[in-house]
Amino acid sequence: MSSFIVSSTSTSRVNTLLVVVGFLAFATIYKLLDKRKQFEKRPPLVKYTIPWLGSAIQLGKDPDGVFKNATKAFGPVFRIKAAGREFTYITAPEIISAVYRDSKTFEFTPIRLDMSELIFGISKKSCNDMKNIDHFLKYHHEGLSAKAVHGLHQRYGPFAYDCIQNMMINFRATTITKLALFIKPPAYVAALYTFFGKTYPALESYEPFQIFDAGFLLLQTKLPRFILRKYLNAREKLTVLTEGYLTSPHEDCSDFVREMEGLVRNEKWSSRDMANFFLGDIWAFESNAIQAVYWIIALQLQRPEGLYKIIEEIDTARDSWIKNNSNVEDETHCQWILEGSFPFLTSVIQESLRFCSSVFSIRLVTREVTLGGYRIRKGDYVMCHTRSVHMDNDIHKNPTEFIPERYMGSETFTKNGRIVPNHSMPFGGGVSMCEGRHFVMGELKIFIALLLSAAHIELDPLSSERPQFQWARMGTGLMPPEGDLFIRVTRRTSTSSSR
Ligand code: HEM
Repeated sequence: MSSFIVSSTSTSRVNTLLVVVGFLAFATIYKLLDKRKQFEKRPPLVKYTIPWLGSAIQLGKDPDGVFKNATKAFGPVFRIKAAGREFTYITAPEIISAVYRDSKTFEFTPIRLDMSELIFGISKKSCNDMKNIDHFLKYHHEGLSAKAVHGLHQRYGPFAYDCIQNMMINFRATTITKLALFIKPPAYVAALYTFFGKTYPALESYEPFQIFDAGFLLLQTKLPRFILRKYLNAREKLTVLTEGYLTSPHEDCSDFVREMEGLVRNEKWSSRDMANFFLGDIWAFESNAIQAVYWIIALQLQRPEGLYKIIEEIDTARDSWIKNNSNVEDETHCQWILEGSFPFLTSVIQESLRFCSSVFSIRLVTREVTLGGYRIRKGDYVMCHTRSVHMDNDIHKNPTEFIPERYMGSETFTKNGRIVPNHSMPFGGGVSMCEGRHFVMGELKIFIALLLSAAHIELDPLSSERPQFQWARMGTGLMPPEGDLFIRVTRRTSTSSSR
């Protein structure tokens, strides 16, 4: 009995011990889990004082400062609330790259469809069809691939040449004008003709396009119609012009448009939806490219050497091509540019894109995930803020300065001793990376080389007005100028590119 009592007492002691050990183990695991949970908390929220506005005022005043200070205070993942909406921003190149790679967790398709409906006015039904038309998104992608754009560049050359020459008719004597008025219309028209042919009413569409483009961000807000009326009316004009184009003969369009049109017609959409689908393309290939030609010239003109170094490089390349191809007619007006070497101009283009772009690649989070140690919930919106990388002191020397030669050397861009392959992301990245990037790099080179072969441009010494970035447009690519430059334009006589 006593042995039983002893054994029963010892059993209960053992049990108690087991319970205590078990409890301790559980408490430790729980503590660890809890610690992990604490570690995996929501990304910090940038402080603000006015409830609905959030950080909107600070963002309006000094957007680069907001992102820089938040990264310094919280690290590369944080939330910003502005105008009633809250987004998680990512500012480190390696995390941006991880988001771009994982297109299942960080989705773009629902956002693309929302934009098609709200901004470009495509009906809900046709937007729904777009979910199942991978083949046509695939063709869109292939039609603008590095391999395919050569033909588009060769179409672009003569159109750009003609548009520039037509404009220069007005500049027989030295004339003072504003840079935007001088440079944007020919760049806009040449690109439209390249894709759609001269049957597209490009000149007529220029003004409504400017208004529609200015309302691009507002159209996504679902604000009352009376506030958006101006932009909706401009869009309507563009819809009507494009619908008219599609319903009339237009054999002079590019193969790219012909092929896309065939695929879209198979979908049996209304002619309005078809027109608005193409309006999406027109916006994509005009909106940023015309700002790019503007800033390349505007930024370089404000340097002490002005446009001199670009002109010298262009003249040398053209003369050398003519010497080596004395029996060949350059019917495209751009063969000498496509075959020439322009290290300085290429660096100026790349630097302008780094310096003037503000891209928020937006993604919808499809499952709970950890980023930079923080918990990101399903349904959150994540923004890859590529400008933070462009303005990072560790990656770029003097990032707030426009340095035309920045990309001329074989410099590798590093941070903490590691190479940063995605140090420049003006075209965004991942599934929604700009499909026009191969075309536009050639387009910009051709346009600037033809322009500076035809025109001598200098700053008007009597005007001190200088363009600033229109920060209200941050997030959508290249920021348009606020204000302008007054320039003196004279026709160049030795335009041997016109042979
Ligand atoms: C310097 C000029 C340009 C810049 C800076 C630029 C920039 C961008 C950016 C930032 C995006 C969104 C990327 C993202 O969400 O991660 C984009 C998308 C796009 N761009 Fe461009 N772009 C330019 C010119 C062009 C041109 C000339 C074309 C057409 C020929 C074009 C076609 C497109 C298309 C089709 C998309 C949508 C891709 C998609 O949704 O999957 N872009 N661009």
